[in-house]
Amino acid sequence: MSFQIGVDKNQTDENDGRNVSLLGTLLFKTVFRIEKNINFASLSIIIIDNTAIMIPQSHILNYLTAKIVILSGAGMSAESGISTFRDTNGLWNNYKIEEVATPEGFAKNPQLVLDFYNQRRKELLTVEPNPGHYGLAALEKYFDVEIITQNVDNLHERAGSSRVLHLHGELMKSCSVCNPNKPYDISPAHPELHVGDKDSHGDQLRPFIVWFGEAVPMIEPAIRIVESADIFVIIGTSLNVYPAAGLLNYVTKGQPVYLIDPNEVKTYRDDIHIIKAGAAEGVKQLTELLRSQ
Ligand code: APR
Repeated sequence: MSFQIGVDKNQTDENDGRNVSLLGTLLFKTVFRIEKNINFASLSIIIIDNTAIMIPQSHILNYLTAKIVILSGAGMSAESGISTFRDTNGLWNNYKIEEVATPEGFAKNPQLVLDFYNQRRKELLTVEPNPGHYGLAALEKYFDVEIITQNVDNLHERAGSSRVLHLHGELMKSCSVCNPNKPYDISPAHPELHVGDKDSHGDQLRPFIVWFGEAVPMIEPAIRIVESADIFVIIGTSLNVYPAAGLLNYVTKGQPVYLIDPNEVKTYRDDIHIIKAGAAEGVKQLTELLRSQ
């Protein structure tokens, strides 16, 4: 139910239009940003495209403060040209996990591991976010969006997403072998790490990446975020790796769950809305769906 007061172009003179817009925009900003209960008998005025709309505040609050939590994986960045892990020609078809993504592999041949991530880091510097990344950033205009990603690339942030939690670390950061929880930024101008590169304590630097068999320090904060979701969206992950894949189990019962993937992903649930598409097209369809609700 909404009442529309059209700002009649003919009647609008500079002041009126500006005043109404200003008042409306101020309320719009206040309602959306700072205060949630400026209302006229539970109705609020919002200005969209110079049209003042009076709408029950409950609609606005329901609509605007819906919390969307995204869980993304390697498929999110596939259309940017970054390989996934388990698809044909995925990274794990060309590299042995135990050699390049475990603490044991690093202990055995540190330069081999450093080179594996040096190469991925240099590749990251040559690619751009894809429309899927930009679509998620744009969702922040209408929803309260938080992204939990298994990806170590920075494409969500480069697309403008403001809240991104990295579960498995970040490629553009390093840490010392003695203190893996204290990251250092890696400059794009000097993207390579080598044996002998040390921090100020004289400890060898390693990629700030969570390797197989290592703890996932961000899992608890991630669970808290998933528990607060009104809508949960899974994009481009095969849900093969835990504890990330287990986050689905923390979605509050009855909250809608969407899954965007061009291939079939086993979830053992029949209440998930499947969008069988790549990230870019899938996020577009999802946005239309959520905004039309
Ligand atoms: N758009 C969306 N999804 C895609 C696309 C695309 N264009 N192309 C492929 N996919 C899907 C695949 O169908 C698959 O379901 O992306 C998923 C990629 O799965 P994985 O390669 O298993 O990657 P991910 O689930 O992110 O791996 C999880 O495993 O190797 C570790 O630490 C690494 O974070 C990684 C974790």
